[in-house]
Amino acid sequence: MTRFITIASGKGGVGKTTVAINLGKALADFGRDVIVVDANVSKPNIGIHLGGSVIVTSLHDVIKRDKNIKDSVYLHPSGLKVIPGNISLDALENLEIEKMPEIIHELEGLTEVVIIDAAPGLHHEAIQALRSGEEVIIVTTPDLPAITDALKTIKAAKRLDLKVLGVIVNRAHGDANDIPLKNIRALLEHDILEVIPEDPDMRRALKLNHPITYTHPDNESSIKFKKVAARLIGTTYIGGKHDSKVEGFLRKVGIKE
Ligand SMILES: Nc1ncnc2c1ncn2[C@@H]1O[C@H](COP(=O)(O)OP(=O)(O)OP(=O)(O)O)[C@@H](O)[C@H]1O
Ligand SMILES: [Mg+2]
Repeated sequence: MTRFITIASGKGGVGKTTVAINLGKALADFGRDVIVVDANVSKPNIGIHLGGSVIVTSLHDVIKRDKNIKDSVYLHPSGLKVIPGNISLDALENLEIEKMPEIIHELEGLTEVVIIDAAPGLHHEAIQALRSGEEVIIVTTPDLPAITDALKTIKAAKRLDLKVLGVIVNRAHGDANDIPLKNIRALLEHDILEVIPEDPDMRRALKLNHPITYTHPDNESSIKFKKVAARLIGTTYIGGKHDSKVEGFLRKVGIKE
């Protein structure tokens, strides 16, 4: 059975794509077969984060039924499998976004975990990304605008009968300007899975087109991503170093049955 986990937020730019690729990479390091899907079809960022802006078969092509979802899987040199989107504005034209949940669910039985990187907010596109999942992780930054929006996303997820796994608080400065964690927990009424710090190495990883869990496997953020991944699969992260080769781009692999 395949798990479908959406990474969602109310406010944009809080770190969903960063969380999606790093949880995906961490789960892959735990030996899980994982595919991260870029469901932010209006502003697909996974290819940008991972250095593969030229995509032959994107999720957009699959939604338009030109292609099979199995042919849209790319292997990143970090070991992460992704289904990227098409960054061109033209690819959005006549895109029937409401088909996305059904198409993503064609991955059922073909992999162990599907991580769905959602668009922010509560409009059509974000709702389709929520509908594509069965479980959801909410990402927020520790400020009131993002937390207020996160609460709306949690309510929307519940209306769709999704299981809310918890909240990742990202870009925490750990100073008096952050909303205290106990207040975030009380406002959102869900577990805080992890608090990821504001981390200068994130920019370095982005520049290298890799998840930080690959470029800086032993830094605080990476270890926290691995702890969340471990929790998702009911195990505990006990440490250990990983390779840190940094060259290469996305390579199309598809899925062979
Ligand atoms: N903990 C962090 N420390 C520093 N920079 C971070 C951190 N998390 C994310 N970033 C940076 O913040 C920017 C936005 O992150 P990201 O693209 O993951 O957000 P998003 O929620 O997916 O955005 P969107 O809503 O547009 O899809 C990126 O440049 C990313 O590298
Ligand atoms: Mg994003």
